[in-house]
Amino acid sequence: MKILVTGGLGFIGSHTVVELQNEGFEVVIIDDCSNSTEKVLDGISAITGTTPLFEKLDLKEKDKVSDFFKRHQDVQGVIHFAASKAVGESVEKPLLYYENNIGTLVYLLKELSQKNKASFIFSSSCTVYGQADEMPITENAPVKVAESPYGNTKQMGEEIIADTCRVAPNLNAIALRYFNPMGAHPSTEIGELPIGVPQNLVPFITQTGVGIRKELSVFGDDYPTPDGTAVRDYIYVVDLAKAHVIALKRLLNQKNSDNFEVFNVGTGKGSSVLEVIQSFEKVSGKKLNYKIVNRRAGDITSAYADTTKANQILGWRSEYTLDQAMKSAWDWEQKIKGQ
Ligand code: UD1
Repeated sequence: MKILVTGGLGFIGSHTVVELQNEGFEVVIIDDCSNSTEKVLDGISAITGTTPLFEKLDLKEKDKVSDFFKRHQDVQGVIHFAASKAVGESVEKPLLYYENNIGTLVYLLKELSQKNKASFIFSSSCTVYGQADEMPITENAPVKVAESPYGNTKQMGEEIIADTCRVAPNLNAIALRYFNPMGAHPSTEIGELPIGVPQNLVPFITQTGVGIRKELSVFGDDYPTPDGTAVRDYIYVVDLAKAHVIALKRLLNQKNSDNFEVFNVGTGKGSSVLEVIQSFEKVSGKKLNYKIVNRRAGDITSAYADTTKANQILGWRSEYTLDQAMKSAWDWEQKIKGQ
């Protein structure tokens, strides 16, 4: 069965392609390589023994997207990762984000609405909850006013899919609300490849560990948390990738379509920035250079998932601990430094 993975050369996309191929799906990737490289195909192939089909294509090019679906009429499911994801940039360039993340979503849904049956998985984010009032966060927690155009594209994306599923009897969809993805494939064939200075905590830590960065700035130690640093739910990327395959299978096996569901994908455990640093120091045996600085604008105090819904309905749960995920991130960083 053929599955389209948009953004399949990216961090979460590439790990999901591996899990799809491991489960016997035929994968075709669309990626514009704006934040990824074709070399990722070699990594996927080294792990699975199969090179997925790949088309370098920008989803904003509507006619080319239509042409793609004409040529690949046997695509039965789409996992849609392709999107811009830098929060700060989205504040500077809101229209770019609405065009990249919303415009392309609309084109894809239009194409899928014309098919007899189609299943759609959307990359959403825990960012839709903002600072939730209660921890852990269930899917019933209210969606709060978005802090950035990026966050808004995730909220609007979910609404657009829900509205479309309501009227498209052939389409069913799931949005996965990721918490904080981290780590790399245990083979070290694929992993995170941030362009420029990493904005996210874990790649910044591992780059500091190998000496690419001088020191980590810890953004604030005056949060109302046990050690004063902000708390997040760090989910191992392979666990997250597997959640996509399970969610896709649920949709493909569903008799009734016109249905839309959302699931949290996290570990259920919150870790503070200092705990993440401790994890790095434990698995690497290195002391990390860091200093405490002011809070980063727009950061929330705490976010960790209640994963009961994904446990019960999808039968999915995370398997890797923070230390195991950190070890994989560290192995990967050391490998790519040597290249
Ligand atoms: C960020 C995005 C979120 C996105 C997620 C994807 C923001 C406001 N939110 O979440 O929308 O879905 O990435 O992974 O950017 N930290 C440091 N020093 C650093 C980097 C981070 O102390 O150099 C701290 C942050 O203050 C935060 C934690 O580490 O408390 C995690 O930060 P990060 O990896 O950027 O993720 P989020 O901010 O949770």
